Amino acid sequence: MSHSGLASFDLTGKTAVVTGGSRGLGKAMANGLARAGADLVIASRTADTLQSAAEELSRHGRRVVPVPTDVSDSSSVAALFRVAADTFDGQLDILLNAAGMNVRVPTVEYTEEMWDAIIDSNLKGTFLCCQEAGRLMIPRRSGRIINIGSLTSSAGVATIGPYGATKMGVLALAKSLAVEWGPHNITANVISPGWFETDLNRALFQKPGWLDATLERMPMGRTGDGEDLADVAVFLASDAARYVTGQNITVDGGFLAGWHGGFLDPPAS
Ligand SMILES: NC(=O)c1ccc[n+]([C@@H]2O[C@H](COP(=O)([O-])OP(=O)(O)OC[C@H]3O[C@@H](n4cnc5c(N)ncnc54)[C@H](OP(=O)(O)O)[C@@H]3O)[C@@H](O)[C@H]2O)c1
Repeated sequence: MSHSGLASFDLTGKTAVVTGGSRGLGKAMANGLARAGADLVIASRTADTLQSAAEELSRHGRRVVPVPTDVSDSSSVAALFRVAADTFDGQLDILLNAAGMNVRVPTVEYTEEMWDAIIDSNLKGTFLCCQEAGRLMIPRRSGRIINIGSLTSSAGVATIGPYGATKMGVLALAKSLAVEWGPHNITANVISPGWFETDLNRALFQKPGWLDATLERMPMGRTGDGEDLADVAVFLASDAARYVTGQNITVDGGFLAGWHGGFLDPPAS
């Protein structure tokens, strides 16, 4: 055991690959990892957005290397991990799989192309990155894998069945890796964000009445902010979480915990 107490949350000297690190929640969690001391390789498809994210994230004084990558393409993922291995001299401590996309249409309107795009980006992409990370982590007998799930890792949400299938899928992958790679001292967990406004769901947040209806049943009275996830990612990436594996940590302001049922108001007399 290398640390105890607050020092066990310190990521100084650790290295991480963060997919989807160019914007939204992946960038917020990458920021948390860099702030805690980790050097980063960040990956997403759009090179200029990725480059500016790398410049912003490097303000913490850590090394941040942008590698344009399509996680749904195995040769692109292999190239990403070759760069990561070179950059970190073979030492990869943390993989955070935040790349993802979604489509919202009535189930009968999904096309095969939509299904393939969602599965390939969210589920196949996560699998390919876990596989490449494992190849680096297993020989070193050390590693942290963090997949990003969703409320749909636990519950159904109308019109996003394919997305939900990927998010239950990344949880299944993490549990399987927890079992298979536990003997190699590698943990695999999931962070499942609740409702966070990003490019992914901005149209939903702007839909008239949607936010009020969501907040009406949100115990903590607000939607999430990337900072709400960053420290959870640091925890799972750190020595503090050394004995936590195969878990799904839902960060949702209590949304899935239940519903007040209208019982918070005193009954009308
Ligand atoms: N926002 C929420 O409320 C919420 C809730 C639960 C879970 N999540 C999950 O959180 C993760 C991040 O979502 P977000 O809300 O931050 O969405 P976002 O703002 O749209 O960011 C998505 C990120 O993934 C990258 N990406 C998408 N497809 C990719 C691919 N094939 N290869 C490489 N990178 C790819 C994007 O960059 P490029 O487009 O440039 O590739 C971008 O960096 C996703 O897994 C999402 O499912 C979000």
